[in-house]
Amino acid sequence: MNDDEAKKRAALAALELLPQTGVLGLGTGSTTRFFIEAVGALVRAGRRFSCVPTSQQSRALAAACGIPLLDDAGPWSIDLCVDGADEVSDSLDLIKGGGAAHTREKIVNFASKKNAIIVDASKLSTRLGEKRAVPIEVLKFAHGTTRHALEQFGAPTLRVRDGGPVLTDAGNYVYDLTVAPLDDPRAFDGLLKGVPGVVETGLFCARADYVVVAEAQTVRMLSRQM
Ligand code: 5RP
Repeated sequence: MNDDEAKKRAALAALELLPQTGVLGLGTGSTTRFFIEAVGALVRAGRRFSCVPTSQQSRALAAACGIPLLDDAGPWSIDLCVDGADEVSDSLDLIKGGGAAHTREKIVNFASKKNAIIVDASKLSTRLGEKRAVPIEVLKFAHGTTRHALEQFGAPTLRVRDGGPVLTDAGNYVYDLTVAPLDDPRAFDGLLKGVPGVVETGLFCARADYVVVAEAQTVRMLSRQM
């Protein structure tokens, strides 16, 4: 099983969670890409969905797939958001933001009645921080000062690509904060949000109603009581 195969199986399994018609949140990333393409196929077959994308990247893909899209301003009434994740803990808390879209993803997640997360089994861990650093969107202004303040919580690294800092859709920077595995990610999130200059973190605590996990042979649907 290669990565793409697993991602696609998780994405297609999430289709069973869709309402017959309604408003969908569309996540960002290589797993969600398969989901957006599948929703596009449903729309072309006559299913009526309107969608809220969580990034410019997902907006462009969804538009190319012929999916009707709502504007970025909101407010929306989203029935279900389907998104990926970088790490999923035993208690189904998440680290997101590998694609630098976590601020928009969190807004759309909170605006959704239900949230489904689609991952392959490599994303599972016991405690958040075991596998991934925590992405933090930070204002450009005084980002060195913000980084210095973040050092009390772990080791922050400015995310760089192609020789320059990665910019979010809002034009901000991203720091990846390497941390010791987190016993209380919700409390940790609160501490990070208390640092001036921090726009949003990639910690999503108790925000997944369903986690669809593609294993080698099967797909497991995990769910939590919200
Ligand atoms: C983007 C995200 C993605 O959902 C996360 O990075 C997973 O991406 P992929 O499906 O490519 O592994 O949070 O900000």
